[in-house]
Amino acid sequence: MRRLLVTGAAGFIGSNFVHYWLGRHPDDRLVALDALTYAGNRESFEAATLQRGFRFVHGDIRDLDLVISLLTEERLDTIVHFAAESHVDRSIARPDVFLDVNIVGTHRLLQAARTVWLDPKGSPAKHRFHHVSTDEVYGDLGPDDAPFSETTPFRPNSPYAASKAAADHLVRAYHRTYGLETAISNCSNNYGPYQYPEKLIPLCVVNLLQGKDIPVYGDGKNVRDWMYVEDHCAGIERTLERGQPGRTYNLGGNCERDNLTLIGTLCKTLDEVFAGDPDLAVRYPAALAAGGRPSAHAISFVSDRPGHDRRYAVDARRAAKELGYEPTTDLSAGLRKTVHWYLENEPWWRGVMGVSYDDWVREQYPDS
Ligand SMILES: NC(=O)c1ccc[n+]([C@@H]2O[C@H](COP(=O)([O-])OP(=O)(O)OC[C@H]3O[C@@H](n4cnc5c(N)ncnc54)[C@H](O)[C@@H]3O)[C@@H](O)[C@H]2O)c1
Repeated sequence: MRRLLVTGAAGFIGSNFVHYWLGRHPDDRLVALDALTYAGNRESFEAATLQRGFRFVHGDIRDLDLVISLLTEERLDTIVHFAAESHVDRSIARPDVFLDVNIVGTHRLLQAARTVWLDPKGSPAKHRFHHVSTDEVYGDLGPDDAPFSETTPFRPNSPYAASKAAADHLVRAYHRTYGLETAISNCSNNYGPYQYPEKLIPLCVVNLLQGKDIPVYGDGKNVRDWMYVEDHCAGIERTLERGQPGRTYNLGGNCERDNLTLIGTLCKTLDEVFAGDPDLAVRYPAALAAGGRPSAHAISFVSDRPGHDRRYAVDARRAAKELGYEPTTDLSAGLRKTVHWYLENEPWWRGVMGVSYDDWVREQYPDS
């Protein structure tokens, strides 16, 4: 039985992880810590609040005393660290917020873990610090380059990726220097339920439902590897169960697509779902699909993001060999589930979009 602290539990992957974990480990204790930024939402983990082992704490990972007291009072033995500023475009506009949360925040958690779990007066408690990271730390690839492996040198290109890379280095250093039992997973692009509609897939879905254009950066040929979020949760579970302390594991979806191809598949999925359910045209009358027109007509090319990485691809053979882990959801099934979720959860996405990022950041970081 584990006693976990899950940071960023009100965000996209964190909330999916809470549901995933409590569904499979109902006897575990799970303390969810989240600062409820614009990207965090209580509704995303609401169903979990009914479960006996669940507790939510509204707080900041940078609050060292709070984290130490939670680890101590709740006798927690595992940290799964999702909390971060996660949107590349926002990191380009305001890098300082990303450095503060992603680097200093991760360091505070490491300090707290070291203080509580490696108390020099006693023998070290059984523990695990799992840091959730991204394939973006490796930089980008040319069309014929081999995918990123765990030994690929870090060459981050955005402030977001640089802040995650710095956090990865700190986690590694805490293992080597202090013996903290850590693991890092570097995962490719996720999609699925509860993803804030600033990221590509949910942005496309909610724009299409509202009859708006879908913005595609540059020529739309940037390639990403896509993974359904539940598969990522399963990869983290496997890493917690079988991963070696101090080791890094790449997790990938075996699913490289350029943005235009991905969006084309998503549009077709939405069109098919509308064609199969006439009620949707009544509920979403502004959607092109409501009038039987192809959703792909909403594609609109916009100027490229500065420093936009061309291609990411992940070599996940270590996870397959050492953890016995493979993702199981193929893209068409995952997109269909995602489209259905956004269709059925309009109050959720309208609610989260009501929070202004600019107002939030002005309030939190008046000097940035
Ligand atoms: N989304 C992806 O495709 C992807 C892929 C690989 C790795 N990751 C990593 O997974 C993690 C989760 O990503 P996501 O997409 O769910 O992000 P998200 O933006 O949806 O969620 C982040 C959560 O962290 C919380 N948070 C932010 N600052 C905090 C602070 N100071 N203290 C406590 N909580 C705070 C937010 O309120 C939010 O609930 C991140 O570390 C990200 O780098 C994401």
